Amino acid sequence: MGRSINAQDNPQSEYVKAIHDMGRIIMVRFARPWLQFEFLYKRTQWGRLEKKSLEILHKFSLDTIKQRKMEYKRLKSQKIGKEETSISGKKKRQAFLDLLIEYSEENEFLTEENIREEVDTFMFEGHDTTAAGINWAIYLIGRHPEIQEKVYRELELIFGRSERPASSADIREMKYLECCIKESLRLIPSVPFFARNLTEDMIIAVILYALHRDPKHFPDPLKFQPERFLPENSMKRNPYAYVPFSAGPRNCIGQKFALLEEKVVLSSLFRKFRVESLGKFEDLKLTGDLIMRPEEEMFVKIFPRNET
Ligand code: HEM
Repeated sequence: MGRSINAQDNPQSEYVKAIHDMGRIIMVRFARPWLQFEFLYKRTQWGRLEKKSLEILHKFSLDTIKQRKMEYKRLKSQKIGKEETSISGKKKRQAFLDLLIEYSEENEFLTEENIREEVDTFMFEGHDTTAAGINWAIYLIGRHPEIQEKVYRELELIFGRSERPASSADIREMKYLECCIKESLRLIPSVPFFARNLTEDMIIAVILYALHRDPKHFPDPLKFQPERFLPENSMKRNPYAYVPFSAGPRNCIGQKFALLEEKVVLSSLFRKFRVESLGKFEDLKLTGDLIMRPEEEMFVKIFPRNET
């Protein structure tokens, strides 16, 4: 969306806190039938916290839209924007939010509220999921030195001694790293379940956490084994046995982007550092939130490659 929240310098960011609180609140309410009554719920500490958190989240999205609208108008007045070309001479793709803003200027039925809802969805789906995925991948790769060496050897082949940032072509070559990301999302899917509002009777519940650990499709399911995702090993697997991004018409719109983002971050780390994860995987407690996060802090040791 073109907005920086400096979350790493400021882990206490109220946006980040509100996101975490909302994940918890939704799960708490979901599991307590008496909290389904609106009049009761809004008087509880959870109802009050939800109101406060939503205010923070909606304000953040609205501010982002406002800032971008101003920028859009400024660029438009200078006749930059859609036709803008980058230094390489290629046409720049339009940012998602600019697209919505432009559309709403020409079509009244796309209200500010509608844009805000889209921005909310993308902001949430676009960061916490990937961040959790990266977190788990680092941890799991850090627990398996032999797998980490394979990751490193692949990166060494791609980059050699070069310090250049990863290009699209480099990213395509990161085949083993991609297997590791997929295997992490199998063992600990960032989104552990999804649900549907049914319009006709049917029984449905997709618990990814359980589905991805079905020994019928993934023998020795608790083992972190990226080779499961090599083409020769996944070809015959039922395509619905592994669905970290859901499936069907409402699946994740950002899945390719998410993989790309994870590869960029993880390759940057593993090119230069060796990671050692502390504590046992079996002892890790997971949150029952909307996003699968560790209950407590997770610790890894990081060693610069050129010193080991
Ligand atoms: C590892 C990272 C990610 C995972 C595991 C993930 C997972 C999912 C899942 C399981 C759903 C479907 C939920 C359902 O079926 O009800 C979903 C939907 C969605 N995701 Fe992702 N996601 C990730 C990253 C992203 C990113 C980076 C973006 C945006 C840039 C994104 C945008 C969306 C949107 C907009 C939807 C709603 C699509 C719709 O309802 O039609 N996601 N995601």
